[in-house]
Formats: sequence, C-alpha cells, structure tokens
Amino acid sequence: METLILDGKLVAQAIKNELKEKTFILKRDKTITPGLALLLVGDNPASKVYVNSKAKSCEELGFMSIIFELPANTSEEKVLKIIDEWNNNPLIHGILVQLPLPKQISENKVIEAISPLKDVDGFHPINVGKLVLGLNGFVPCTPAGIIEIMKFYNINPSKKNVVVIGRSNIVGKPMLNLLYQKKEWSNATVTICHTGTENLHYYTQNADIVIAAMGYPQFLKSEHLKEGAVVIDVGINRIEDNSKKSGYRLVGDVDYDDCLPKCSAITPVPGGVGPLTIAMLMSNTFKSANSEIN
Ligand code: GUN
Repeated sequence: METLILDGKLVAQAIKNELKEKTFILKRDKTITPGLALLLVGDNPASKVYVNSKAKSCEELGFMSIIFELPANTSEEKVLKIIDEWNNNPLIHGILVQLPLPKQISENKVIEAISPLKDVDGFHPINVGKLVLGLNGFVPCTPAGIIEIMKFYNINPSKKNVVVIGRSNIVGKPMLNLLYQKKEWSNATVTICHTGTENLHYYTQNADIVIAAMGYPQFLKSEHLKEGAVVIDVGINRIEDNSKKSGYRLVGDVDYDDCLPKCSAITPVPGGVGPLTIAMLMSNTFKSANSEIN
C-alpha cells in the first residue's frame, strides 16, 4: 500500500483560515483584537527566524503583535520586568519568550513569571498541571499540533500503542500527557523512550504510532518500525549539504527515505509538524483573547 504523506502545511493553513474568520467576528462583535507579545533575547539565528514567522502569522490573521529584541547580555531582572508589564497590559493576550535563553537568565524563573492566563506556550507549571489533570489550560503548541494532524487525517490514537521518543518539557512530556487521557483523540497506551532506554527496538517495533522528538538527525530507521506504523517526525536538524547554496539542509529525527516504504503514513521535514506549531500558537492566542481559558 502506498504511504500517506501527512501534509502539515495543508493542516496548518486550514486551522489558520478558520482562525482568521473567527478573528474577524471577534473584532466586529466584541471589538477585541488578539494580541501576542514576543520576546527574543540574544542573536540565535534560528530563534530569530521563528519569532519573525510567528509575528508574520499574527499579521496574516489580523492579530496585533509586538516583538522585543534584547541583546544577549540582558539581565534576568530586565526580562522579568518586561513580562510583568505585559502581564498587566490588557491588549496583550499571549506572551511568548523564545527559548533557549542566555545562561545568566533562568528559564524556569521566566516561565513562572508569565501569567498562566497569557502563557500561550503552555510551559507554566499551572498549565502543565492542568494538562496532566485533563483540565482546560494552554497546551504546548507542537504536541497540540500533532493531535491536529492526526485528526485531519483521521488517525485516532485511541486503543493504539504509541511510542514517544524524547522527554523534553516542550514536546515529549506534554505529548505523553495528551495521549493517555480518557478523552476523544487520546486514550492511547503510551510509552516514553529516551536516552536511558535500553533496547529501543523492543518498544518501537510494537508501536502503531511513533513520535520522534529526541533531537538526533535521521536517527529512526525502518528496522525500528513495525510494518504499517504511523511516523510523526518532530525533529528539525541542519546537516551539511554542499550541493545547497546555504551549505546545509534540514532533516528530521527520522531517516525519511529509509522509513517511508515501511510506514502507512509519515510526516516530512520540512512541511510536516513544523507549520502546526505556529498555527497552534495562533489558536492559543485566539483562545486567550476570546476568554476560552480559565
Ligand atoms: N524554542 C523551541 N521551541 C519553542 C517553543 O515552542 N516556544 C518557545 N517559546 N521557545 C521555543
């Protein structure tokens, strides 16, 4: 059977189109414009690209956005002061501090300073706790986007064996917590594998769905998979490629060409999970503006 290529750009565009219409109505009927504040500290080139594309999506949907760019030597105190101002600004519904931060700034302190009601990344311990309990809070954008891809293509994790590889706070842990809830589009048996897992094959070969989010380029091979598995690739890695003008190309955590023939469905990189992260950030910001989170 032919492998289904899961088109993240298509899914993200569908979500953004719907949000654009809902934003038009929110502005017209309640005179509320969703507002997102973005903070970038330092000059990490990838972070810069991400923050700019988040602001661009805001513009597309009719949101208000502001970007604060601060130098790498900015103090923690300064960052906390800006967050405090944004927490108290009623025109700002979402606050996003792009990670990673320079080492003199504690990421945990910064995340905990953001009001849980404006924490559109879903990283605040209050929102992490709500996710675990199955309560209504902000859900981190990348895992939420993966659920949206699965919904779009009618891949229901219920009663399936899902293996998540990677235990980051941004992807692995929230993905795990989204997938075992006694809810629709959840209800899976979930295993989380990581660098401490011995014999990864043992788990992945029994998986109906594998979600690769460990941050090692082209790590997952066809030999890890059972025939007909669904593979979701969360990785974005630059590898050297002298045939490209830039000198590099992007690959995921999955060896795509090797895995493709064995899968029933797979996400490409780029154009798979990536576009969903921004679409879900827009969705979270809209929900905040529309007071859907409490
Ligand atoms: N760095 C990498 N991914 C993310 C994300 O989803 N949100 C933020 N704030 N920083 C990141």
